[in-house]
Amino acid sequence: MNTLNTTVTSEAEMPEENVVPVQEEKPAETVIEEGKTVGRPFSDDAKFKLRNVEVFYGQDRAIKNISLDIARNEVIAFIGPSGCGKSTFLRCLNRMNDSIDICRVKGSLHLDDQDIYDPKRDVVELRARVGMVFQKPNPFPKSIYDNVAYGPRIHGLANRKSDLDDIVENSLRKAGLWEEVKDRLDATATGMSGGQQQRLCIARAIAVSPEVVLMDEPCSALDPIATAKVEELIAELSESYTIVIVTHSMQQAARVSHRTAYFHLGHLVEVNETNKVFTSPEHELTESYITGRFG
Ligand SMILES: Nc1ncnc2c1ncn2[C@@H]1O[C@H](COP(=O)(O)OP(=O)(O)OP(=O)(O)O)[C@@H](O)[C@H]1O
Ligand SMILES: [Mg+2]
Repeated sequence: MNTLNTTVTSEAEMPEENVVPVQEEKPAETVIEEGKTVGRPFSDDAKFKLRNVEVFYGQDRAIKNISLDIARNEVIAFIGPSGCGKSTFLRCLNRMNDSIDICRVKGSLHLDDQDIYDPKRDVVELRARVGMVFQKPNPFPKSIYDNVAYGPRIHGLANRKSDLDDIVENSLRKAGLWEEVKDRLDATATGMSGGQQQRLCIARAIAVSPEVVLMDEPCSALDPIATAKVEELIAELSESYTIVIVTHSMQQAARVSHRTAYFHLGHLVEVNETNKVFTSPEHELTESYITGRFG
């Protein structure tokens, strides 16, 4: 006969000292203090001064009381999980959100001490000063040459054809595209590969010599060689321009940026020197993200 002891001692019958209390984990959201960003969100030499910024899509608050300075000639990277508001916040900087009907921006946003949202402000002039490169390349259905020459023509930056030629060549060179397209400048831009189109859009953005370039995941469609060229360009541009780059690549943020800003559920949780963010983050949410525990 089988004499196996099948008696089960239920937890309730166990002596109390054997019960290990279960530690309840705090939900991550509870540790975010609204409007409070740890680290170094401010600068003595601000190009952008952004205070108490909130962005609503209808009733939904996508950006929750964010205050940040973006310094002159700095490269700042915006990182954080999908949907945390990086693109929304970036688009406030040149009023790209204006084109979304249900979107409302509140707070104080200044570029060189001028109110970005002043109703009297010329938005075309603002966007010439604050250029943008989108995640998906969006070349105009025009020739390669005309794509790059478009902005300089509108803003009257070249008096002679040879000046315009120089701007087009220089911009294409900086974007790492010149060698590939110099013999077919009249070809239509929409016939280029995705990666070439993206570099063309970068050339188009820098052709008007903006003071700031906003880049929303500019390398997500690029191969490693084109990505390296864009990163070189960022380093070169940062000598005279201010650059804000949204990226999902932490390696990219670490390679190109001076400071890194970590966003979470519409909050700006931490801003610090990039090196510090990736080696010794101050906030536990930043640490969880960079160590891959979520996002
Ligand atoms: N045009 C829009 N209309 C309504 N809600 C929007 C719109 N654009 C963004 N949102 C909402 O705002 C929040 C922030 O979105 P946003 O695109 O800024 O995030 P993100 O950090 O850039 O994400 P991802 O890394 O996926 O690009 C999300 O909840 C999103 O659903
Ligand atoms: Mg985005």
